Amino acid sequence: MIKLGVNVDHVATLREARGINEPDPVAAAMLAELAGAHGITVHLREDRRHIQDRDVELLKRTVKTRLNLEMALADEMVAIALKLLPDSVTLVPEGRQELTTEGGLDVLMLRQTLKHKIGLLRQAGSVVSLFVEPDIEQIKASQRVGADFIEIHTGAYCEATTEVERKEQLRRIELAISAARKLGLGVNAGHGLNYQNIGPVAALPGIEEFNIGHSIVGRAVLVGMERAVREMLQLLPQH
Ligand code: PXP
Repeated sequence: MIKLGVNVDHVATLREARGINEPDPVAAAMLAELAGAHGITVHLREDRRHIQDRDVELLKRTVKTRLNLEMALADEMVAIALKLLPDSVTLVPEGRQELTTEGGLDVLMLRQTLKHKIGLLRQAGSVVSLFVEPDIEQIKASQRVGADFIEIHTGAYCEATTEVERKEQLRRIELAISAARKLGLGVNAGHGLNYQNIGPVAALPGIEEFNIGHSIVGRAVLVGMERAVREMLQLLPQH
């Protein structure tokens, strides 16, 4: 069964647009769980543009499925993760000007820091995942630095403008899944996935969980969170 992790960052984006206390991503997470989500994901950015520390603290106490904390490799973030102990941590690159996470981590370049910080997080009991491009060298390096999981960045597939390019990107994802599984890594995937493009990726064997945010929250604004989550679950095999 492929699991669905719902990223509720953009409920917080809507809240921050007014600087008040609603809509609350914690309430959205509860509704997503009621609709069958297998996990909740939030990205606590260093600039706190959407999710706030208070959200992660409350989610840690209220999420009944699994809480996945996405974060940069910064010391401040590692300290927060070590204090709150989410079920899993997904390490992502972070750029100040970006609208959303733009690419995967350069695991080869960051290997020393990653090894050290993954060690600390794993020792504290967190499962650690690295957000990487579907690139075999990055995946091999992810295993070498001690990650439990990789999350494959599906952005290039989602942004493909021709059928040929889309197929090429899908093939890259397929090869990346198979390389990661052979190395003993768990495989998640996400970024840019929506109700129209999820089908072919969901049909690839070997993915444990998708992390989907913007498209679900965007649909939830129109049809409600529970229906938006249920409709996405229906597009995953075995549902
Ligand atoms: N996975 C990771 C690692 C991400 O950084 C993001 C975006 O925050 C997502 C999944 C979800 O992407 P989207 O909002 O495009 O569904």
